[in-house]
Amino acid sequence: MTRCKSVWVVPRETFLLVDSQTLPYIRLTVPPPIAAFIVARIIAIANQKGGVGKTTTAVNLAASLAAAERRTLLVDGDPQGNATSGIGVPRDTIGETVYDVLLNPDRIKDVIIKSVQFRHLDVLPATPDLAGAEIELVDQDERELAMRRALDHVRDEYDYILIDCPPSLGLITVNMLAAADALLIPLQCEYYALEGLSQLLNTVHLVQQGVNPSLGIDGVLLTMYDARLNLSRQVAADAREYFGAKVFQSVVPRNIRLAEAPSFGKPIILYDVASVGAQAYMGVARELLDRK
Ligand SMILES: Nc1ncnc2c1ncn2[C@@H]1O[C@H](COP(=O)(O)OP(=O)(O)O)[C@@H](O)[C@H]1O
Ligand SMILES: [Mg+2]
Repeated sequence: MTRCKSVWVVPRETFLLVDSQTLPYIRLTVPPPIAAFIVARIIAIANQKGGVGKTTTAVNLAASLAAAERRTLLVDGDPQGNATSGIGVPRDTIGETVYDVLLNPDRIKDVIIKSVQFRHLDVLPATPDLAGAEIELVDQDERELAMRRALDHVRDEYDYILIDCPPSLGLITVNMLAAADALLIPLQCEYYALEGLSQLLNTVHLVQQGVNPSLGIDGVLLTMYDARLNLSRQVAADAREYFGAKVFQSVVPRNIRLAEAPSFGKPIILYDVASVGAQAYMGVARELLDRK
């Protein structure tokens, strides 16, 4: 390691470790951020199946983008609040949440928690209250547009807004898809992974035909990949055949460090930056930056 000013430069040139007084953070060596007036790309991380790596992807991709000095907002769209706790927002510091924002979109700026773990990472937190929003929204006009209205207030303050969707295709997910420019679909490398996607793609189609014609698919991310298993390799090959270049080159392997990190309230790059899981998510972030 060599020291230059206050920055520790780590060999292998993958990233810089910066030790600020308050929050240590890691900066990816990627091109400098583009002009600040560009509005955020809003990406919904969705798959109606639970346990496929949505939250892990939302938290770690958001952290990697923030480490690359992209102004990033992580929206926790799941009543389980796993993204909120996983990124390190303590439960007892949460006041209003995404639930309040869905019912009062104009309040979003008061609800966002600034600079969580990284200077450039803000969080819109969720708690179990959010489950009630599905029911309360039903009676509202244009009920599927609440999230879009809310994000319109802050879109010019970020480069990326990542939304962790719940494992269902209900009104919350539809709100998130209506607000998004694109979807990122985590695909767990296991049996029936692709078959489960037809329901999601149907919902995407309905949203495209209705409230959000420009909704695209930014990428399919292979998660929990185990190169020793024929099955993993087969799912990866099928996904690449079906989705082509939309499948990220970076593949997230099964990695115990990724599963451990949330219980410490840390994204993987702060928990174990050398782990294969951290390297994978930094690779995904780099691909996303190259695509923009
Ligand atoms: N690549 C991975 N390797 C090992 N464990 C993982 C990996 N990705 C996710 N997990 C773990 O699997 C479980 C489900 O992941 P999660 O991201 O919560 O899925 P979802 O949000 O789709 O329900 C969590 O316990 C998480 O820590
Ligand atoms: Mg989740």
